[in-house]
Amino acid sequence: MCGIVGYVGPRVATPLLIEGLKRLEYRGYDSAGVAVMNGAGVETVKESGKIARLEALLASAPIHGTTGIGHTRWATHGPPNQTNAHPHTSQDGTIAVVHNGIIENANVLKKMLEGRGYKFTTDTDTEVIAHLIQECFDGVLEDAVIEALWQVEGTYGIAVISSVDSHKIVAARKGSPLLVGLGEDEHFVASDVSAILAHTRQVVYLDDGEMAVVDRNGYRIIDLNATEISKKVAHIDWDLGQIERGGFAHFMLKEIFEQPQTVENTMRGRLLLDEATSKLGGLNLTDEELLSFNNIVITACGTSWHSALIGESLIEELARVPVEVEYASEFRYRNPIVDERTLCIVISQSGETADTLAAMREAKRRGARTLGIVNVVGSTIARESDGGIYIHAGPEIGVASTKAFTSQVVALLLFTLKLARLRDLSYLRGREVVDGMLALPGQIQQILDRAQEIENIAEEFKRASNFLYLGRGYNFPVALEGALKLKEISYIHAEGYPAAEMKHGPIALIDDLMPVVFVAPHDSVFDKITSNVHEVKARKGRVIAITSREEPALEGKIDYEFRIPETMDLLMPILASVPLQLLAYYVAVMRGANVDQPRNLAKSVTVE
Ligand code: M6R
Repeated sequence: MCGIVGYVGPRVATPLLIEGLKRLEYRGYDSAGVAVMNGAGVETVKESGKIARLEALLASAPIHGTTGIGHTRWATHGPPNQTNAHPHTSQDGTIAVVHNGIIENANVLKKMLEGRGYKFTTDTDTEVIAHLIQECFDGVLEDAVIEALWQVEGTYGIAVISSVDSHKIVAARKGSPLLVGLGEDEHFVASDVSAILAHTRQVVYLDDGEMAVVDRNGYRIIDLNATEISKKVAHIDWDLGQIERGGFAHFMLKEIFEQPQTVENTMRGRLLLDEATSKLGGLNLTDEELLSFNNIVITACGTSWHSALIGESLIEELARVPVEVEYASEFRYRNPIVDERTLCIVISQSGETADTLAAMREAKRRGARTLGIVNVVGSTIARESDGGIYIHAGPEIGVASTKAFTSQVVALLLFTLKLARLRDLSYLRGREVVDGMLALPGQIQQILDRAQEIENIAEEFKRASNFLYLGRGYNFPVALEGALKLKEISYIHAEGYPAAEMKHGPIALIDDLMPVVFVAPHDSVFDKITSNVHEVKARKGRVIAITSREEPALEGKIDYEFRIPETMDLLMPILASVPLQLLAYYVAVMRGANVDQPRNLAKSVTVE
């Protein structure tokens, strides 16, 4: 959600911090700030709104210094104004802190500190940390941070600087991602590798309970007992080009158009044509172990939850293993029936979603084996799961998930193939799936080549206030996903429903102003969905249909049609979701919405 970047080295810090913050802006962006050691002390500049406003402030009054920290904020405690923006400073002004996460005992600590004479000037929980570190400070910054953190309950990723113990950054993690970037005579801290990718690809990920003490010449990783920990250096192989827009108007559009490649990347080297199965090196499960599970639970949030629903149908249809899909936020607080004969699949683009991570830990605690289907390499879910499948979709910057969704479904297909072929899926049927999968990149490209047709449809509906999305079978989750895409970036109210459920309530909403998007390719439930189209038309609803061939049964019943290539039913969600992504995108752009950074949303939801 919020983003952290820090720099210590020979270069002037502020341009590096601003550059890092801009790359993090997609994570959370209601305000931003930096604190830099200016030679005399810690100087802090903060501003509400976009990074560009902070940049303008700094341009008019530059700070000269080579050690600093920066932050983009997504408000949790207190409104997104300049006062509440990070960094927050201690009462004596010697310490500055940036923080992601939530301090749960902030009120108790605040009362205690007020009793000792500290005055609070912001509505944030983070200010508590700054004063607490001052209270504990005795000349060595990391010692003070350790002492303070022993008193803190909740989640945090923090970076701290001090004008007394200067030329170093102390960073600590519990529940909110942080890493150290290793350069030549310079070091970085960041909550997300994209902030520092322009400068280094060598990183050390912090785990919960770990701290980094970073200066120009090196770094130490310690725990909260000050015991040194030795950590592996990871190499990041993402390109800078992948986190830039590369000529597209928005990251979201770029990411939609990348899907022929990203879907291919997810499959690359993993399909075994001769055996009609897949090879997944990261599962860390023998075939015997894979066959030993009684049931599968898939847990995720948002778009990843929609891909989980598709996974449920895939696994049950092809591998015949019972699957349950759970919202991670609900799973963690229920008493789910999960034990050592359960395989828990956790799906997350970021690998950092707080609810999903907590659900995975809960499943592990109950004895389940966990598999992460994750995009961000080295993310917490990727590291803590017992095994997994990286989707290899590359960095997804647009807040609305697009390419990660299609790649998640491909990863689920790969997993299903593997499991189903170990069970009783025939070679011929397996081969049909493999061949269908191999055709997907080209078929997605055919859809993208006709994006203009979707743009024309968007023009017709850009002023609508509500949308209904309907689908059946494999395409019900596609309807949910289409509705989510539209609402999150265009702010139009949209609902996704199984098409037949419409007559149990939503049909009351249909009139001549209501656009209804039917995901109705020619599949095994096509005849059923035809009746639902007729029901909408009989009530003068305006029908937009995603079809896959000329359908006499729909003649005169569709106002706007977009045809996608034909494929197997179980592959259809991958193709059908692409025009819906485009529809949401074009409508949002036409309404003047900020497509890549929709209001109130953040890319990675690292608070509960
Ligand atoms: O990183 P994750 O896949 O765990 O994120 C889950 C959701 O927060 C995410 O899919 C969210 O719903 C997106 N904004 C959807 O476009």
